Parts: sequence; structure tokens; C-alpha cells
Amino acid sequence: MIKICGTGSALPKKRVTNDDLAQIMDTSDEWISSRTGIRARHLAVEETTTGLSVAAARQALAEAGIQPEELDLIIAATLSADHVLPTLACEVQAAIGAARAVAFDLHAACSGFLFALNTAAVYLRGGVYKNALIIGAETLSKMLDWTDRGTCVLFGDGAGAAVLRELPDETAGGFKAFVQYSDGTRGGVLSCGDRPLVNPYATHEAEHRYVEMDGQAVYRFAVGTVPRVITEAVERAGLTLSDIDHFVLHQANSRIIQSVAKRLGQPVDKFPMNLQECGNISAASIPILLDSLNKNGMIRKNEHIVLAGFGAGLTWGAAVIQW
Ligand code: ACO
Repeated sequence: MIKICGTGSALPKKRVTNDDLAQIMDTSDEWISSRTGIRARHLAVEETTTGLSVAAARQALAEAGIQPEELDLIIAATLSADHVLPTLACEVQAAIGAARAVAFDLHAACSGFLFALNTAAVYLRGGVYKNALIIGAETLSKMLDWTDRGTCVLFGDGAGAAVLRELPDETAGGFKAFVQYSDGTRGGVLSCGDRPLVNPYATHEAEHRYVEMDGQAVYRFAVGTVPRVITEAVERAGLTLSDIDHFVLHQANSRIIQSVAKRLGQPVDKFPMNLQECGNISAASIPILLDSLNKNGMIRKNEHIVLAGFGAGLTWGAAVIQW
């Protein structure tokens, strides 16, 4: 049985409210909160993507009751690692002393943690590895155009982690099913950061340095695909939607989440949210929310949880786990 045995999370100390943003740009709490549900976000000042990841990882390992040396695999999902090289996963490996683990990054934007979890589950199910650490971590604030009020107000920084283990105990469900999709033909609706060719024969200027988004197209994409992918994953798990106790969705926007709940015919209180306090933290949003549900005793043993991610690429997917 493949099971999440520990979770962790870390947010930067600096909390920035919508009113704080209204002091430095032409926006308001009313505009941001009524369209997105976001009231505040945490922004890195001293923190790094690696430092936040290490803090989250240590908590997850402690809860799982395993030592870093027991880890076989570390996958870090991020689009905002501190460096292009080395990878975030390798930096975490070095910091926590997980000498035996193979470590690599996986980049699928806001679907990153979900895709990393699914990837690790396949390794574990195949008997290749037994203990995996999955991280979703971002310092997106460095990738935002702080003169573009249409995007910069939406995002935050932070990290979440989960330890996934292959256990001999077959009595409880564990990891049940997953579904994931990509559509590169629609990638232009959410983009960030050209890496122009610069060599002795080509010198191109970067045109897109920061996150750019067609907000309404992203909204339509999310509310169209997420209900379908959740339904498909739940069916693949041999369950019905009413069997699901918690729908842990990527925290982009409360209106998206409310619309998904409505389209699935499920009560919105099955859809926990932390975006009010965190904003959208891309690959980190699902593990941070999962950790807060776990730490606050909101998830009981054997309950069924759907994790669902969606984001740039475009990418989207869902997984069904039994706690
Ligand atoms: N404060 C005040 N006014 C603003 C702000 C702001 N922060 N941002 C934009 N405006 C203004 C615009 O300038 C525009 O003014 P105008 O009518 O005078 O030209 C007006 O508000 C409307 O702007 P729109 O961009 O059309 O606003 P919209 O109603 O579409 O809301 C939003 C934008 C909230 C992003 C919406 O499109 C949405 O919810 N999209 C979903 C996408 C999403 O959540 N993306 C997150 C990242 S992607 C991901 O995680 C998968």
C-alpha cells in the first residue's frame, strides 16, 4: 500500500494584506477579494525556495518517523528554484543529508506537486523505491511584474512537502488512482520568462520576463477541465463523488473552486481553501493546504481525498487517496 505518512509546510514571515498592496499600487481589498477570495499572501524577504522546502521536508520526515538517509527518492516541483543549477531537489537532498536518495525536479507549473506525487507513486508501485519525499515550493514573487496589478496581486510564496511510503499493510486504501493531462496548444494563456539565445552568433532580447496571463481564458480552462478530470479519477478509483470527503484543489481563485463544486454537485464545504491567507502558490498550494488539514486534525483515517491541480502548460490532473 502506498500512503502519505507525513506532511509539512513553511511560509515566509512577511505577510502582505490586500490593504498593504493598495499602499503601493492602484488596487483595493474589495477588487482583489471579490474576484479571487484572496485577502493576504506571504512574500519571501530573507527566505529562499530551498530554505522553505527544507523546513517543510523536515516536518514531513518527522511525522513519517523516518530519517533522511532512509529516503530513496526526492522529487521537487517548482518553477521558481533559487538556481537553474543545481536543482532544488538536489539542494534539499544536501541540506537534509538524504545521501541515498535520487533527487530531481519536475516542472509542471501549478500541477507540479500533483504530477510529482503521481510519478513517485508509480515508482513505489513498481517496487523501484520504498520511501519518497515530494516537495512543492515557490518564491513566485521574484517572477512577477510588480507594475502589473492584474497578476502580481494573485500570487504568494511558500513550500509544502509530503512523505510517500510503500508499506506492507494492505488494510487501508492509500493511493487509489490518478489521471493527468496536458495541452501545449493552449500554452499561451499563461506564460512566464523567455530565455533568449545569447551566443556568439545570436543575441536576442528577452521579451517576457514575468508571469503573463489571460485571466478569463485560464478561468474557463479551469472550470471546464477540473470537474471532468476529478470525475474520471474518482471513477477510476471505483468510487462515486459522494464517497469523497475532501476535494483539495490548487488554490488559484475561490470562484474557480466554487464553480467546480457546483458543477460536481458537491457541497462547497468539502472544498477546503487557504487562498484567503496564502494567495496562489503554484506548485506549493496543494501540499501546504494538505499539511494544514492534516495538522489541524481535519482529515480522519480512511477518509477519501481528491487532489486536483491545473495550470500552465496547460496541465491538469487529479489523484484519489485514502488517508
Ligand atoms: N486592482 C484593481 N483593478 C484591477 C486589478 C487590480 N489588482 N487588476 C485588474 N484591474 C482592472 C483592470 O485594469 C480592468 O480595468 P478596465 O475595465 O478599466 O480596463 C478591470 O479591473 C477588469 O480586469 P480583468 O482582467 O478583465 O478582470 P477580470 O474580471 O477578468 O478578473 C481575474 C481578473 C481575477 C484574474 C480573473 O480573470 C480570474 O479569476 N481568472 C482566473 C485565473 C486565475 O485565477 N489565475 C491564477 C493563476 S493561473 C493558475 O494558477 C492556474
